[in-house]
Amino acid sequence: ARITLRQLLDHAAHHGYAVPAFNINNMEQGIAIMQAAADVDAPVIIQASRGARSYAGDLMLSHMIDALERTYPDIPLCMHQDHGNDEATCASAIAHGFTSVMMDGSLKADAKTAADYDYNVAITRRVVDLAHWVGASVEGELGVLGSLEHGGGEQEDGHGVEGKVSHDQLLTDPDQAVEFVRATKVDALAIAMGTSHGAYKFSRKPDGDILAMRVVEEIHRRLPNTHLVMHGSSSVPQPLQDMFNQFGGEMPQTWGVPVEEIVRGIKSGVRKVNIDTDCRLAMTAVFRRVAAQTRSEFDPRKFLKPAMDAMRDLCRERFEQFGTAGHA
Ligand code: G3H
Ligand code: 13P
Ligand code: NA
Ligand code: ZN
Repeated sequence: ARITLRQLLDHAAHHGYAVPAFNINNMEQGIAIMQAAADVDAPVIIQASRGARSYAGDLMLSHMIDALERTYPDIPLCMHQDHGNDEATCASAIAHGFTSVMMDGSLKADAKTAADYDYNVAITRRVVDLAHWVGASVEGELGVLGSLEHGGGEQEDGHGVEGKVSHDQLLTDPDQAVEFVRATKVDALAIAMGTSHGAYKFSRKPDGDILAMRVVEEIHRRLPNTHLVMHGSSSVPQPLQDMFNQFGGEMPQTWGVPVEEIVRGIKSGVRKVNIDTDCRLAMTAVFRRVAAQTRSEFDPRKFLKPAMDAMRDLCRERFEQFGTAGHA
């Protein structure tokens, strides 16, 4: 059954769990998420980026979601636009059956100037007005994550997004968060605590200096009733890095967000946890293994089925770790 982000995160807050939001671009990723959810009775957030929508096509994507929903009628499913950049993107997502949209008004910002903040408030508020009119939910974002355009990962040691801002400036300001939620009426707020998108987040296991979970705790103290969202929350598991590299990949050693830090966030209002990189890595590490171990193989299903199983296992593990399991 299709549900909104608001419905799902209210339930999660009431019961003290979080929901991983996994990105999809194709059928195999969609099936992997739903199989994992069905295995452990978890509700799901499936999200599509603008890139995913143009990769699969809106018609293909929306019918795929319909098919996933009908195949797993007992799993509550929230379909979410990841990193919407303007009103048109959010409106067309809703028109295609998405029950939730992210209006990422921080995308445009190079730094936290007053003009950037005002732009973010104004456009997010307009998207909230249009989405709430038809019952859809809205996630906003305040703060600067590792930039999507530059693959992220360059800011962990204070060198900033292209060196323009310091580490502290990247983190969400708690006072501004209170004001932003009041002014926009968002259903969920994505905040920056030092993570970035992609595999290359940290060059060592992150400590409290580079992964500032205290910011999450402080914002939760000021906004106890606001659902918080962590982006860039892949853990980039070592066994997946090793498998990828063992079978011909060349991924430099990297560190993601430790699951125990996410679990700490869940105790402080984090209700939606965005994960894309781990799913990609689980699938492509297995592609490489199949390609290396069965060099005569050319049936794509022989690659895609084990890749799908690896993503399913990853998703199931996160449902269990975040307490989502058992809440469908
Ligand atoms: O936030 C970024 C997500 O990982 C989606 O990435 O734009 O390459 O689909 P994408
Ligand atoms: P990762 O790259 O850490 O998986 O983050 C995904 C994300 O935040 C999508 O919005
Ligand atoms: Na999102
Ligand atoms: Zn993101």
